[in-house]
Amino acid sequence: MTETTLHAPLAPISPWTRVVMVDADAIGDVAADVVAMIAPDGVLGVATGSSPLALYAALIRRRAEGLATEGLRLFALDEYVGLDASDPRSYAAYVRSVIARPLGIPAENVRVPRGSTGADGAAYERAIAAEGGVDVQIVGIGRNGHIGFNEPGSDAETRTRVVELDESTRRANAEHFDGDLSRVPTHAMTQGVATILSARRIVLVASGAAKAAALRAALTGPITPDNPASFLQRHPDVTVVADPDALREHR
Ligand code: F6R
Repeated sequence: MTETTLHAPLAPISPWTRVVMVDADAIGDVAADVVAMIAPDGVLGVATGSSPLALYAALIRRRAEGLATEGLRLFALDEYVGLDASDPRSYAAYVRSVIARPLGIPAENVRVPRGSTGADGAAYERAIAAEGGVDVQIVGIGRNGHIGFNEPGSDAETRTRVVELDESTRRANAEHFDGDLSRVPTHAMTQGVATILSARRIVLVASGAAKAAALRAALTGPITPDNPASFLQRHPDVTVVADPDALREHR
């Protein structure tokens, strides 16, 4: 049984945001409880990166125990511009190998933003709408408060589009490009803040002290494009699952 500690929210966090503080090794299971509610055929918005890895591992364990995941429909948050879906460093490759394949989800149920034009972004928005919208959206948070690749400066109205990545974001992701910043793509296609907020439920996962300042600003600071994650305060159903290090500025 997973032990969870409910963290008392600080004003002015929205009353409908749940913040669940758990040990780092329980984050995956607690977050998976929310995702499991939309099995067997819900629409799941998936983040890539390291934060949700434990959540995907927990879902894979649950599938082995009988949870039907094969009918889930996946929409990724973002993708680098200029990396082909066959490139192992692409988010398309991550979604295939870390999420879809182990959960038995067929390729036709998996969408990842692709392209570099406004029309490509609009097509992605239509694809989400055609599936009835996202039931549960998983997000991580960048050290600068980004969600998806909505870097500081992204406002509440943004939709799927091409963005320029902050240098800090490219540095944080350089480890996947042999540590060579010059190889990290400069642009990405990302769901916008408005796209993310139109999901019916959002689960934010965060661990580690490096996320503490951004998470505190997101949850208790002003709602501002300076910290795009702060727009989550406007959403009626957000669950934050984070470890004590990520929440250390709340205590
Ligand atoms: C990934 C994404 C990003 C990451 C964020 C945190 O699809 O949209 O917002 O969630 O950069 O990355 P990690 O989890 O690797 O620290």
